[in-house]
Amino acid sequence: MISCRRPFIIALTGCSLALGVAYAASVFAQPEERPDAALDMLVHEPPTMEDLENSDIHPELKKVIRYGHDLFTNTQQLRGENVFNDMNCSSCHLGEGRVPFSAPVWAAAITLPDFRGKNQHVNNLEERIAGCFAYSMNGVPPEYGSDEMLALSAYHQWLATGAPMYPDKPIFGRGFPAPDEPEQTPDYARGEAAYQNNCAICHQQDGTGHYESGEYVFPAPWGDGSNNWGAGIVRVDTMAGFIYQNMPLGQPRSLSDQEAWDIAYYITSQERPQDPRYTGDVAETSERFGPTFHKRSLYGQTREHDGHVLGDHENFGEKGDIKPWNVGMPRFENLSEE
Ligand code: HEC
Ligand code: HEC
Repeated sequence: MISCRRPFIIALTGCSLALGVAYAASVFAQPEERPDAALDMLVHEPPTMEDLENSDIHPELKKVIRYGHDLFTNTQQLRGENVFNDMNCSSCHLGEGRVPFSAPVWAAAITLPDFRGKNQHVNNLEERIAGCFAYSMNGVPPEYGSDEMLALSAYHQWLATGAPMYPDKPIFGRGFPAPDEPEQTPDYARGEAAYQNNCAICHQQDGTGHYESGEYVFPAPWGDGSNNWGAGIVRVDTMAGFIYQNMPLGQPRSLSDQEAWDIAYYITSQERPQDPRYTGDVAETSERFGPTFHKRSLYGQTREHDGHVLGDHENFGEKGDIKPWNVGMPRFENLSEE
């Protein structure tokens, strides 16, 4: 049996090879002698679904984790109820949410509850998952405590098996780190050309993605089938990070920094469903959520080549006027400062 469930697995490839070393290190060594100490980061290799089958955890828990994995990789099964675009969670969190630099989702399981700038209060894991439903899936999250929410959080927490809670070091590969600042200001025309050359073959020239016999093959980077204007990936730097670290598919970090920023600028200059926090006015919405979010997106800005104001519309996509129940929900208002 190959197990990757020990903390501080050092090798980034081939966990069986690292197992012996890591096991001894984590069980017997003092913290400063741990194999990842030199990097001074928390390196964690999450278990695989094969590890799940081979492990001796309770069969009922296995079923729930399997369901969580199934929801994560085929979130389209919740289409029309919780999901109103063409995405799965795994459309952005590659490798089933396990891959470094592709916002591996187990990181949330060991760092939450914590204060979150985007909604200005303390969030737990369920609320963080609910956030990706409301924005990235242009949807409405399953209720807290529902079978779907429990299964998804169980999957996230199980991926974190062996990693320390509230780690005292930065997490290796967390998020979608942006490439270095480009030499030239990101440019729409250059971005468009680079997108058509490197990306359109899968995502289509018009960004609508690709379907075969009604089945999703490549997701839509913009348009109604994509995430809405409130999704983290519409921040230009987050998009540049996603692209640089993960695309073209199978060739991570093959684009130049400049190409990644240009393409990110081009994609985030396209329309998508309205931000569910929309107040009825794009300028007001972009100002209200500027400090916590939109200062990093192009929402509310005027596109130079055609004068279009981004996000100036009432199109919420397939979701229509259903408002996600978690958006703007106040929390902890009655707690005192001390
Ligand atoms: C359109 C792309 C996209 C989709 C689809 C998506 N997410 Fe995310 N997710 C993001 C981005 C962007 C972040 C923020 C990464 C960062 O910290 O820079 C994020 C962050 C997260 C985090 C926090 C990770 C951390 O490091 O704390 C979790 C958990 C998460 N997503 C779960 C989900 C789940 C569950 C789904 C499906 C219901 C989902 N995501 C769908 C883009 C997406
Ligand atoms: C070989 C096909 C292929 C190529 C080429 C490709 N992608 Fe992707 N891309 C994918 C797939 C597949 C996913 C979803 C991941 C999954 O389902 O495993 C994805 C996901 C994405 C996403 C997140 C989901 C969404 O639609 O918003 C973005 C953004 C993206 N790609 C941008 C790009 C960019 C930019 C390029 C060019 C530099 C590119 N891709 C090249 C196949 C491709």
